[in-house]
Amino acid sequence: MATNIRGRNYLKLLDYSPEEIRYLLDLAKDFKRMKRAGVPHKYLEGKNIVLLFEKTSTRTRCSFEVAGMDLGMGVTYLDPGSSQMGKKESIADTARVLGRMYDGIEYRGFDQALVEELAEYAGVPVWNGLTDQFHPTQMLADLLTIEEKFGRLKGLNFTFMGDARNNMGNSLMVACAKMGINFTACAPKELFPAAALVETAQEIARENGCTVRLTENVDEGATDADVIYTDIWVSMGEPDEVWEKRIRLLKDYQVNSQVMKKAKDTAIFMHCLPSFHNTKTTIGADIAEKFGLPEMEVTDEVFESKRSVVFDEAENRMHTIKAVIYATLC
Ligand code: CP
Ligand code: NVA
Repeated sequence: MATNIRGRNYLKLLDYSPEEIRYLLDLAKDFKRMKRAGVPHKYLEGKNIVLLFEKTSTRTRCSFEVAGMDLGMGVTYLDPGSSQMGKKESIADTARVLGRMYDGIEYRGFDQALVEELAEYAGVPVWNGLTDQFHPTQMLADLLTIEEKFGRLKGLNFTFMGDARNNMGNSLMVACAKMGINFTACAPKELFPAAALVETAQEIARENGCTVRLTENVDEGATDADVIYTDIWVSMGEPDEVWEKRIRLLKDYQVNSQVMKKAKDTAIFMHCLPSFHNTKTTIGADIAEKFGLPEMEVTDEVFESKRSVVFDEAENRMHTIKAVIYATLC
């Protein structure tokens, strides 16, 4: 039977089957070809979407805006703090108001429960643009980028190094398990993903012929990897006070040339971005001054190397988000 996800929310990858993820990836490839060839695709003219951001963004916001405009839609952006939501109006009321005006709602915020509640009341598709627990639109861009580089997904070895119990670690573990990629979280025990989610991912992995494992050992984690992935050590919404402890926990998990040498010769480096790979940001400069660490989760050498595919990944955010919008609204 043909895949059809019209009217569905896109809140976390756990809600989607491997076939549905495959459908979205193939659709994204079609949209990427059209965009590159300059073929217009204003398939959703007359529809309108709203982008609700309670945290800041460059890639996700711009991807939703460009994707929406390429599809011919009207797009409203509400920046952190500029709507009534949360302070003067409940999530449920906001959802019911926006659902009367718009055909789809993107939401970036804190707890996953908030986006789930928004979806329960909106009456139109809701897309999760990142919560503390999950970042599902990033997953499609990452899978598309890996497939473009290796020509396949199944059987590859993927290693996430760093804060593995956050939105990126959680989401990548589920994405790999769904698509038959062997996943390793390489992190200190304290930053391993929650046991219940690991168990769920391991069950999904078994069904799809791959594995999910956790290790504290960098040698073990990096050896034979096809993909080495990392994320910032302190995420949006976490207090500044956690930096010191997080640096102490994660400095040995920095992705540097030694780590890349342990991986396969053909291995690529990935990062959702933004990244602290030098001191050219205010936070990067501040951390360098306070802790004497000019590069954090990845060295500038690896970030700028030929193995780094981070800007392909960033571009693919737009093509894959376009696929999600189109497939759920059309
Ligand atoms: N990767 C990502 O979500 O980037 P933004 O925070 O810039 O949207
Ligand atoms: N873990 C990061 C991801 C940013 C795309 C954060 O939540 O800030």
